[in-house]
Amino acid sequence: MLKNLFIETIGCQMNMRDSEIMLQLLKESGYLPCPDLAAADAVIVNTCSIRGKAEQKAYSFIGSLRRLKEENPDLIIAVAGCVAQQEGEKMRLRMPHVDIILGPQSIYQLPDLFQQVAHERQGIIATSQSQDFAIPSFLPDLKNGLAHKRFVTIMQGCNNYCTYCIVPYTRGREVSRRQEDILAEVQHLVAGGVREITLLGQNVNSYGNDQPRSERTSFPELLRQVAAVPGLVRLRFTTSNPKDLSPALMACFQDLANLCHHFHLPVQSGANGVLAKMNRKYTVEEYMAQVLGLRQACPDISLTTDIIVGFPGETVADFQATMDLMEKVRYDSAFSFKYSSRPPAKSCGFEETVSDQEKVRRLAILQNRQQEITEERHQEWVGKTMEVMIEGESKMANGQWSGRSSQNLIVNFHSPAIYSPGDLETVTITESCLNSLRAELKLEETLKND
Ligand code: 5AD
Ligand code: SF4
Repeated sequence: MLKNLFIETIGCQMNMRDSEIMLQLLKESGYLPCPDLAAADAVIVNTCSIRGKAEQKAYSFIGSLRRLKEENPDLIIAVAGCVAQQEGEKMRLRMPHVDIILGPQSIYQLPDLFQQVAHERQGIIATSQSQDFAIPSFLPDLKNGLAHKRFVTIMQGCNNYCTYCIVPYTRGREVSRRQEDILAEVQHLVAGGVREITLLGQNVNSYGNDQPRSERTSFPELLRQVAAVPGLVRLRFTTSNPKDLSPALMACFQDLANLCHHFHLPVQSGANGVLAKMNRKYTVEEYMAQVLGLRQACPDISLTTDIIVGFPGETVADFQATMDLMEKVRYDSAFSFKYSSRPPAKSCGFEETVSDQEKVRRLAILQNRQQEITEERHQEWVGKTMEVMIEGESKMANGQWSGRSSQNLIVNFHSPAIYSPGDLETVTITESCLNSLRAELKLEETLKND
């Protein structure tokens, strides 16, 4: 008999992809996705621990499952992801109603763990991390997930040890996936109708560094191979550490027609002293040179970033330096966060000098200014023509369609045509809104459709 599986995913795109993999693996054991928690036979909570808030969110959701488990003792509860990896035994003591605690490297064992739990009911912990871990070859189920755009994991883990960051501890050392497996996955997806692929890794520029020198493929080489898969319309990737952004990668933006004009380049701070204490291994000047290089290679590239405010020791002048950098770069958008101390990351040993109230103040100033810059950047598109990939029809009004530009901007427009997600349309931008652009069909298109 088929069983119901409810998955709650918190956190980054890596977790989203891992959740898809877990669902696919369990489908083969007779589980189907179920949006209704109350009707579930099994629940997976895929957790994130990047900041304290995400971890609290995970714990409060897991805690709320206790009542369900009391009502239905056969319910299987599995907790995956970074909080599970990090907390292990501690989580079992705190949340005894959880049956399986598994780390990111153990997701492929999930069907076996489900089997095991049916017999043991003991609280299984699968969080071991191996030096020789290799990401298994695995072809995604085309029916499970979005039809027109997909994520493909190219590596796991991170070796950078930025001092604030928990990722090297939860996701382990960098492990690159075999190039043949990545290409096979992309070919399989594109043959099945997928039009846009995003290559995923914590630090994609380090792709291949863990492989023997003679067999190594660099990230720009991999990007070129993936871009050449026939039928792939759009290619994206995330995330890159600015210290590793090579001229070879910049050149890809000039050479590869299907590589999207968007680069997420986390800066974290605009003050050299703070960057050094963060162990980011670049200076503001080096970062600005990367920005210039990218804009030379691809003038209409959209740049986005991550910024932390209130890092231990961040002075008002340091914060101002971050604001100044934002003014210089003029990001299309930015994710910004209050510093959160995450043991065992190294910065936990640094004295916290910025009060929570001051972090809130700095964050509000930064976010308000960024919102203005985002709107100004949007305004610059008015009157320009661009190609959008259709995401779907607006539920609010007939004939209203929403798509994404190469820069990943959301573009809404009216059209009498009927599209499928993944179709391309050429539009002219008429208006900039807070979080999106409004457009109309390009003139000839309008005439053609009349
Ligand atoms: N506190 C606040 N923000 C953090 N990030 C990572 N670790 C922390 C932390 N301890 C942010 C960084 C990173 C993004 C994914 O999350 O900006 O780029
Ligand atoms: Fe964390 Fe730095 Fe690695 Fe990004 S590059 S995952 S911020 S350690």
